[in-house]
Amino acid sequence: MIGIIGAMDREVDGLIAKLAQREEKTKASLVFHCGKIKEESVVIVKCGVGKVNAAFCAQILIDEFAVSCIINTGAAGSISREVGIGDVVVATEAVQHDMNAVDFGFPRGQVPFADVFAFPTDEALRKKAKECYEEINPDGRVFFGRVVTGDEFVSSSARKDAIVSEFGGLCTEMEGAAIAQVAYYNRVPFLLLRAISDRADDGAGMDFEEFSRMASERNIRLIMKMLEERYLNNEV
Ligand code: ADE
Repeated sequence: MIGIIGAMDREVDGLIAKLAQREEKTKASLVFHCGKIKEESVVIVKCGVGKVNAAFCAQILIDEFAVSCIINTGAAGSISREVGIGDVVVATEAVQHDMNAVDFGFPRGQVPFADVFAFPTDEALRKKAKECYEEINPDGRVFFGRVVTGDEFVSSSARKDAIVSEFGGLCTEMEGAAIAQVAYYNRVPFLLLRAISDRADDGAGMDFEEFSRMASERNIRLIMKMLEERYLNNEV
């Protein structure tokens, strides 16, 4: 079973619509849509916005649905000059930019006592995502690198610059690093896919409204291709 998480309806509706033999299960107020896409068993869920929603959703996928991998799909704000609206980011790792235990002796972003600073994603899944994206969208741009996550919709250049100077990274969003942390501690392969809806600057709110649907669709096409190629089954 492949677990797919998005924060908002617009990030998962297009995939849920593709489910055959659909069945719904509710747990902790989350609705898990189970079924088949292209012969693969999948469970798709809208977790809600933010790290706590994302984290408990991921743990339920692991405990109750025994998923063999987790994909997080959604939009993100670019924090890199290179990465523009409509581009796709495949995270190599994810960091929580709002974790601050500096006065407790840990670098900003470090989850205290965790054995890594950035939570890694699965290398094999990243490679397959790249192959598939190049096939479905040869002219599209796909970037690999750090994604930074926080319970904050970043919508000012000043805030963006502060995050970049501390953490670098390609884009910012509100769930990825939380799911990455849960996946890491459970040893479940994780793929974090984000398509850019805005530039995390003063126009972010308006751009997000305009482009987040298009961005989500881009990821959905990529996930459909990965399912079609059977790249997400238990062998990866
Ligand atoms: N998701 C999409 N755009 C975002 C932004 N600017 N900040 C946080 N999460 C986002």
